[in-house]
Amino acid sequence: GMPVEVDISSLRPGEKMTVEWRGKPVWIIKRTPEQLAELPKLDGQLADPKSERHPDEFTPEYARNEGRSIKPEVLVVVGICTHLGCSPTDKFQPGPQPSLPADWQGGFLCPCHGSTFDMAGRVFKNKPAPDNLPVPPHMYVSDTRLRIG
Ligand code: FES
Repeated sequence: GMPVEVDISSLRPGEKMTVEWRGKPVWIIKRTPEQLAELPKLDGQLADPKSERHPDEFTPEYARNEGRSIKPEVLVVVGICTHLGCSPTDKFQPGPQPSLPADWQGGFLCPCHGSTFDMAGRVFKNKPAPDNLPVPPHMYVSDTRLRIG
């Protein structure tokens, strides 16, 4: 498949854009400083906090870090649940919300069977989804231009 190039210069903290790559939705999310600060605190609640499981399939080498990203603030993931392929919804805001754990810190919720993911696409423990959301191959061709694929 062809790579997809995206201009992310208009993406503001807390925003998400979706582009299609190989027929899949790829999310590009600019995380806020608060969302980034939360990530290391969640490790104990996650199934694979360091993205060590099937790294070749789910996490390229340059994204095997706490934020699973090249630039700390910009997350690039395939928005398809690793359980049975539903598309999780985004619930970025922390705090009590219907159908979410009381201590929800923001992230993504799969509507099909309730898997939850943090703001790095890492899946929480004891959920049906076995793996973190995949990070697609990507690179920056300039400071604000991303190539996916
Ligand atoms: Fe997402 Fe089952 S498809 S939890």
